[in-house]
Amino acid sequence: MSRLTDNQSKIIIALDFKDEVSTLHLVNQLQPELCRLKVGKELFVRCGPELVKKLIAQGFDVFLDLKFYDIPNTVAAACEAAADLGVWMVNVHASGGRKMMQAACKAINSGFHKPLLIAVTVLTSLSRQDIAETGLDIEPEQQVLRLARLARDSGLDGVVCSPLEAELLKTEVAEDFCLVTPGIRPAGSDVGDQQRIMTPSQALLAGSDYLVIGRPVTASKQPLKALEAIIMDCKTVRKQT
Ligand code: C5P
Repeated sequence: MSRLTDNQSKIIIALDFKDEVSTLHLVNQLQPELCRLKVGKELFVRCGPELVKKLIAQGFDVFLDLKFYDIPNTVAAACEAAADLGVWMVNVHASGGRKMMQAACKAINSGFHKPLLIAVTVLTSLSRQDIAETGLDIEPEQQVLRLARLARDSGLDGVVCSPLEAELLKTEVAEDFCLVTPGIRPAGSDVGDQQRIMTPSQALLAGSDYLVIGRPVTASKQPLKALEAIIMDCKTVRKQT
């Protein structure tokens, strides 16, 4: 099976729910042709691989956002397990280093089903001072670029990044390096706890390949309508959504 599915949607809905009932209540209002789904640590720890399998069985592409970070052998085995589950995308921390990322790539490439393998560079929750406290006295942006290049050189498909970093990474790393960006807010929507945001169309114009969107859809009284409005905004940049 190839990495590419028929699904052309660039929107990944973040399923930040505590249980299966509320997750499926939302998911049953969406359509696999219109979006993909992201399962993160909380939902996975609560509901496990069975829920992921259910979402895939409903026709959705699933991004398993568990941000693996461990010794190469362990991360490779976890990536292989994710691939066996049938997920569309999985991620690791680039700071786990070249050998870890190469092992993850090798594990994924040797399987029948090959999810996209994406790296997390610097967590956006970390300030320059936070990073300095860990022993790295450099600008976060420099570290993002360094880790993105390392991820590309290790064979990964792309990185999770802020839409504000997208232009720099497309220019400095590679045009075909896949950029997955949270921090997206449709014009006029509640910003919540996000700070450095872009609208869906702005993010696509900046170079984002996939937009991770949570509350603007999941907290909406009419999630499908909210998603359709986002798709309409994306279409203004004349890209397939
Ligand atoms: O609700 P909202 O659109 O803010 O959700 C964004 C999603 O993207 C959440 O699942 C959040 O954990 C994730 N995320 C983020 N910022 C990052 C990395 C991931 O908001 N830097």
